[in-house]
Amino acid sequence: MQEKAPLTQLLSVLIAANDKKEKPKPILLKIAPDLTDTQLDDIIDIVRETGIHGIIATNTTLDRGNLTEDITSIGMGGLSGAPLRDRSTEVIRYISQKSEGRVPIIGVGGITTPTDALEKLKAGASLIQVYTGMIYEGPGLVKEINKAILKRK
Ligand SMILES: Cc1cc2nc3c(=O)[nH]c(=O)nc-3n(C[C@H](O)[C@H](O)[C@H](O)COP(=O)(O)O)c2cc1C
Repeated sequence: MQEKAPLTQLLSVLIAANDKKEKPKPILLKIAPDLTDTQLDDIIDIVRETGIHGIIATNTTLDRGNLTEDITSIGMGGLSGAPLRDRSTEVIRYISQKSEGRVPIIGVGGITTPTDALEKLKAGASLIQVYTGMIYEGPGLVKEINKAILKRK
């Protein structure tokens, strides 16, 4: 029998422990925007196989291609915010299409305007998360996003 991938094994243990709880909680896997399409296909298979509740797409990126300034001197930490936006939306769209909308996705990455948020939802996210955008725009951004969601056709 083929050995299961370490991530599958890890998630299976988590699901089993969660199922034993009086009130099990949803378990979602958060993924990097730097994964290849083949790796994303593997993730979709793992979600199906383990029965976890969804994917959070995406975490920060190691890619520096969208930056206009060289920030090498501050190190190779994960980059968040606007430079990440389009790749994160692309990952959401890819997973949504490949899984035929069957995998719940929390969309996150570079949402700094209501339009960014609507794009994530249109790409297939069921929920969205705002992190860096809250720092630059403040909590009023959430109100603006909610208004845009209510107005959308
Ligand atoms: C300072 C900072 C700390 C973060 N810490 C975590 C963390 O502990 N766990 C996690 O899953 N993601 C963490 N993230 C990633 C964010 O949750 C989010 O996925 C990412 O920043 C992309 O969204 P954004 O462009 O809205 O910031 C962190 C991001 C930043 C900027």
